[in-house]
Amino acid sequence: MRIVDVSHVTKMYGHRQNRVQALNDLSFKIDEGEFVGIMGPSGAGKSTLLNIMATIDQPTSGKVVVGGQDVTAMSDAELANFRREELGFIFQDFNLLDNLTVKENIALPLTLTPKLPADFDQRIVQVSEILGLNELLNRYPSELSIGQRQRVASARAMITKPKLILRMNPQGVWIRQRQRNCCGT
Ligand SMILES: Nc1ncnc2c1ncn2[C@@H]1O[C@H](COP(=O)(O)OP(=O)(O)O)[C@@H](O)[C@H]1O
Ligand SMILES: [Mg+2]
Repeated sequence: MRIVDVSHVTKMYGHRQNRVQALNDLSFKIDEGEFVGIMGPSGAGKSTLLNIMATIDQPTSGKVVVGGQDVTAMSDAELANFRREELGFIFQDFNLLDNLTVKENIALPLTLTPKLPADFDQRIVQVSEILGLNELLNRYPSELSIGQRQRVASARAMITKPKLILRMNPQGVWIRQRQRNCCGT
């Protein structure tokens, strides 16, 4: 199954003399089960691409299809649902909540949906087994090693059975925040 289809994506920032072309007619595909890293020098457009695939930013032109759905043609409300249901996010600093146990951290994306899935407990067991977290479910993040925290963050990204899991770098998120608060560049 095709999971990602990026076709002829262009991204421009700024206006007039400040105009920057971050992405220039970019096309590629990712199939189910593929593990893809985006590599390139600083300023090459990695964060821009990641933000567009994460649907937190839109391309200037071109089309992005994720899991068969055209995310470049969705409303904000549709995108919010799409992100919650079809995408998993792993943040570089893990973003675990200190006052929640490992189990509660993993379950968090499910507890944010309107209705808990019928196989809630089974999913926790499954994902904990895959990532070797069974023994750690009642601990708090502060009682874990960095590697264990990373696995909890991965489990949390997998628990909703997303079509695509994105590992975000903080810089990318920061750029997006700057855009939101600032002048719409
Ligand atoms: N919000 C923004 N406003 C203006 N230019 C931006 C913005 N974000 C990124 N850019 C520019 O777009 C290009 C690609 O940036 P980016 O995607 O952050 O690259 P990378 O993540 O590969 O270092 C760079 O020239 C950068 O300066
Ligand atoms: Mg970057």
